Amino acid sequence: QDVVRVGLMGLGTVGTGVYKVLQRNAEDIALRAGIPVRIEKIAVRDPAKERTVDVPKDLLTTDADSLVDDPDLDIIVEVMGGMDHTLELLLRALRNGKSVVTANKDLIAEHGRILLETAEAHRCDLLFEASVAGGIPIVRPLKQCLAGNRISEIMGIINGTTNYILTKMTEDGLDFATALQQAQQLGYAEADPTSDVEGYDAARKIAILASLAFNSWVVFPQVDVTGITEVTDRDIRYAGELGYIIKLLAVAKQDEAEEAIEIAVRPTLVPRDHPLAAVGGAYNAIFVRGDAIGQAMFHGLGAGELPTASAVAGDVVEAVRNLRDGVRGRMLCPCYRRKTIKPIED
Ligand code: NAP
Ligand code: HSE
Repeated sequence: QDVVRVGLMGLGTVGTGVYKVLQRNAEDIALRAGIPVRIEKIAVRDPAKERTVDVPKDLLTTDADSLVDDPDLDIIVEVMGGMDHTLELLLRALRNGKSVVTANKDLIAEHGRILLETAEAHRCDLLFEASVAGGIPIVRPLKQCLAGNRISEIMGIINGTTNYILTKMTEDGLDFATALQQAQQLGYAEADPTSDVEGYDAARKIAILASLAFNSWVVFPQVDVTGITEVTDRDIRYAGELGYIIKLLAVAKQDEAEEAIEIAVRPTLVPRDHPLAAVGGAYNAIFVRGDAIGQAMFHGLGAGELPTASAVAGDVVEAVRNLRDGVRGRMLCPCYRRKTIKPIED
C-alpha cells in the first residue's frame, strides 16, 4: 500500500483544523507514519456552506454512511459529533475493518466500552486523544507512559469554554452571556453549549480519564456534576477579596484498596497562588498523582481548531503506523474491574 486513505466526518471547527494540519504537515506526517496520508472523502451537512479552508468540492458528501462502507477507506476520522447515529456509524466502520479516530467525548464517555470491545474483536484501532483536553496529550500518557503507576488522583481544569468564561468574568468584568458568546465564536464551545456550562462536558472527560487511570468503566451519568451557571459576579468578587479564584474543577480519586472511585465536577475556590489559578482562557491543566511519578501536570490549550487537530493528527499517525506494521487493535480492553463509584465527600 503506497498511501493511507482517510474518510473525514465533519468539517467544522475540528475538521477544518484536521484538514489544515494533514495538508500542511503532510511531508512530516508521511515520514513519521511511514506512508503518505490522503483525505479521500469528507462528510458534511451542507456542501454549499462557505468554508475557511479551500477543499476540493468533489471530496464533499452529505452521506456519512457512505464513508464507513467505502472499501477504499482505511481510517475514519470522526469529528462531526452526535450520539446514536454516530455510534452506529463508528461500530459499522470497525466491523468493516477500519481504524477509527474520534474527538467525540460524548460517545466515548457513554459507549467507550462497546466501541473498544468491537475494535478489539475486529483487530482495529479506536483512538480518542482529542476527546479530553483538546491538544494536551493525556489519554496516551495514561494508557502508556504512566501505565507502570498506581494512580490515586486526577484533578484539573478540563473544559476550555467554562475556563474562558470564568477568566473573562474575573479579569475583564465581562458578563456570563458575553463571555459565552466569545467562547462560541472562538470555536471552543460544543454545538449545544449547555453541555459546557452545566459541567457535562467536563464530566464526560473525567469519566474517560478515570476509566483509563483506575482500570474500571466509569460512565458519564455516574459523575456528580455542578456547572457554572449559578456562579455570579458577586461570587467571583467575594472569592477575590478572600484570596481565591473560582475554577470549574474535575476530580477523580481512588481509595487505597482500589475498590472505590470518588468523582465530581464542581466550581471550586482555588487559592490565588495555586498553579491552577494561573490557567486562564481556554487553557486546561490536569494533575495526575501516581505512586512512582509523584505529581505530574499536563498543561496546554484544551479546545479550538488547531490544538484539537494536533491530537487528532497524532492519532492518525499512530493508526497509520499500526496499519503498516499489522499490529492494529492491540490490547484495547485490559482487565477492567467493577468498582464503587461515588461523589466526593466535602
Ligand atoms: P462543529 O464545528 O459543529 O462541526 C461539526 C461538523 O460536522 C460540521 O462540518 C458539520 O457539517 C458536520 N456534520 C454534523 N452532522 C453531520 C451529519 N449528520 N452528516 C455529515 N456531516 C455532519 O463541531 P466541532 O466543534 O468541530 O466538534 C466536532 C466534535 O469534536 C464534537 O464531538 C466535539 O465534542 C469534539 N471536540 C470539539 C472541540 C472543539 O474545541 N471544538 C475539541 C475537542 C473535541 P456542516 O459544516 O456542513 O454544518
Ligand atoms: N467544548 C469543549 C471545551 C471543547 O470547551 O473544552 C474541547 O473538548
